[in-house]
Amino acid sequence: MSTVTEHPTYNYKVVRQFAIMTVVWGIVGMSVGVLIAAQLVWPALNFDTPWLTYGRIRPLHTNAVIFAFGGSALFATSYYVVQRTCQTRLISDGLAAFTFWGWQAVIVLAAITLPMGLTSSKEYAELEWPIDILLAVVWVSYAIVFLGTVKMRKTSHIYVGNWFYMAFIITVAVLHIVNSMVIPVSMWKSYSVYPGAVDAMVQWWYGHNAVGFFLTAGFLGMMYYFVPKQAERPIYSYRLSIVHFWALIATYMWAGGHHLHYSALPDWTQSVAMVMSLILLAPSWGGMINGMMTLSGAWHKLRTDPVLRFLVVSLSFYGMSTFEGPMMSIKTVNALSHNTDWTIGHVHAGALGWVAMISIGATYHMLPKIFGKAQMWSVGLINAHFWLATVGTVLYICAMWVNGILQGLMWRAVNEDGTLMFSFVEALEASHYGYMVRWMGGMFWVTGMLLMAFNTWQTVRKNSNAPVATAAAQAA
Ligand code: HEM
Ligand code: HEM
Repeated sequence: MSTVTEHPTYNYKVVRQFAIMTVVWGIVGMSVGVLIAAQLVWPALNFDTPWLTYGRIRPLHTNAVIFAFGGSALFATSYYVVQRTCQTRLISDGLAAFTFWGWQAVIVLAAITLPMGLTSSKEYAELEWPIDILLAVVWVSYAIVFLGTVKMRKTSHIYVGNWFYMAFIITVAVLHIVNSMVIPVSMWKSYSVYPGAVDAMVQWWYGHNAVGFFLTAGFLGMMYYFVPKQAERPIYSYRLSIVHFWALIATYMWAGGHHLHYSALPDWTQSVAMVMSLILLAPSWGGMINGMMTLSGAWHKLRTDPVLRFLVVSLSFYGMSTFEGPMMSIKTVNALSHNTDWTIGHVHAGALGWVAMISIGATYHMLPKIFGKAQMWSVGLINAHFWLATVGTVLYICAMWVNGILQGLMWRAVNEDGTLMFSFVEALEASHYGYMVRWMGGMFWVTGMLLMAFNTWQTVRKNSNAPVATAAAQAA
């Protein structure tokens, strides 16, 4: 394997580590996704083994894709972007290395404990208290490295991408610490300090802002750096980016109640959440438009550049899911969509179409630079990956729309005498074909990720892929 020329100023080692783990955890997390998708088609695939049952590996999937794959992409890109836009090295190599190994340790512990059935049973916050404490320590260290680096910047202003990364880092720390307040009763069992409906409200304040800050604000930070870079155009409007930032973070906080419509939550709280979710359409689309319009005068590049295509298509899915979300938060719409596959389709329009696509585009942009290579080993393979990912996402979300609306309508259909027209099992049977299509979509995705792994491997190891003249090219 060729040696990597170290950048004279920046710490690229930790960026390389996180970038590689983005690809690795992407494959692992999505493969588990494919497995649970297959279990919904062929239930026998749990092999009558407790740790392979759907209930245990579903949270393994969500944790692996959100925190291991998405998290590694966020760490890699944020460390890359903050150094380059602040023109300074990370404030501490040691602490940055700690965040890498600490984060990997959290992931491995999650991968062991979740299949064992050790869980707090709070969605996206399933890990038990000892792992939560480690996670909090790692995250605070991350905040110190990132904010400290911004403080030591050699530029006068703070680039807007860093604003988004900072909001994401600070908010996730607050969310995680507040939502994880528990009373431990043993090493692997604890109970929430919050009672009943308050616990539900805190959980979905956490859950929704995990979407808003982990799955959105952080990736918008990515968008603000990598879209202009790859398009070789300045961001469309700097003014819009500031409005976008403040409007988005001010609105997201109030919308979590839409996960608890028609529940024990006070009615007015549900209505506030609905209104705030509708308002959220505006800043979300403001950001999407800012990214899209950056391509003005550069649209022709989409013909030849699959990396740019990943970035732009991710913005389209972002626009789509942030239109769908506010619609689903309207109480009468939610009465149909809630608990159906429509929600799952919405999730993956955001998660695959937006989060995964932008992460992959950004990673393809970074990989040659951080490994001191001229370019990725094969542009053709990036192109193949792009099409597999796009078609896979479309198959997934269309199947879930059909299933979701079908389920919602079947569940509420009543006979003249008021009895239910369909049993639950009949609705499940009707969902079978949709589940097969979703599984196929997942297979497309995993195949694309395997191509990415191969392309990355070749890029890193091939000497023929001439190393660029070190610092000058790496700084491009
Ligand atoms: C190969 C790609 C993927 C496949 C096949 C897949 C499959 C699945 C399946 C079968 C479920 C359970 C649905 C249910 O219980 O009805 C699920 C849930 C979920 N997945 Fe994925 N997934 C994939 C990629 C991703 C990615 C990349 C992310 C995030 C970045 C993600 C985030 C989630 C979340 C948040 C849920 C829980 C949704 C909810 O509770 O409403 N998935 N996935
Ligand atoms: C304006 C933006 C958005 C709004 C207003 C919104 C609204 C909603 C609504 C109403 C639900 C259904 C709640 C339920 O019936 O249980 C939902 C579920 C969900 N959304 Fe969004 N959404 C938005 C954007 C996004 C994006 C961009 C993503 C992903 C990157 C995302 C990820 C999720 C997840 C993971 C769930 C499932 C939560 C669960 O039940 O486990 N959302 N969203």
